[in-house]
Amino acid sequence: MSEDARTQQAGPAAGGTADTDLIYFSSASGYTDRFMQKLGLPAARIPLRTQQETLQALRPFVLVLPTYGGESGRNSIPPQVIKFLNREENRRLLRGVIGAGNTNFGTTYCLAAEKIAAKCQVPLLYRFELMGTSEDVDRVKQGLELFWKRQLHTRP
Ligand SMILES: Cc1cc2nc3c(=O)[nH]c(=O)nc-3n(C[C@H](O)[C@H](O)[C@H](O)COP(=O)(O)O)c2cc1C
Repeated sequence: MSEDARTQQAGPAAGGTADTDLIYFSSASGYTDRFMQKLGLPAARIPLRTQQETLQALRPFVLVLPTYGGESGRNSIPPQVIKFLNREENRRLLRGVIGAGNTNFGTTYCLAAEKIAAKCQVPLLYRFELMGTSEDVDRVKQGLELFWKRQLHTRP
């Protein structure tokens, strides 16, 4: 399968719908996107520009996102992700969060993912740096498989 088929890239004009259990944001530097390409699972990307229409999730999903706060820790969640989570239906379908970041930022490492997990009361499943290592890719793949299996068993 080609990379294009595996990853539904949100087009420049509109967000549209996301019928995938992985939704991610990656800025122009594209590190998180590179991680997602290595993961090779179907995933939808939140539009790059805040002015663009955001995505509408169609089923339960895990959100993957980088932190952009810097050392102050303020405004660490990218505005594109805030816009996406401002849709009540998207928050309702959120099941877990995976954070991307850089340990050089110390205490704010992956803070955006931590904040979203706390606010939406879902687990922070994993954290990785930049585009992740092959070990990160394997652990996330295995972890997600287990996570979705458990979700099926615990669904009311
Ligand atoms: C201005 C700026 C601020 C950042 N602040 C943080 C931070 O507070 N915590 C963190 O873990 N990473 C921080 N990072 C690192 C990014 O989260 C990291 O490079 C990530 O892989 C970027 O993903 P992307 O290229 O997909 O957008 C920051 C990066 C930049 C450029």
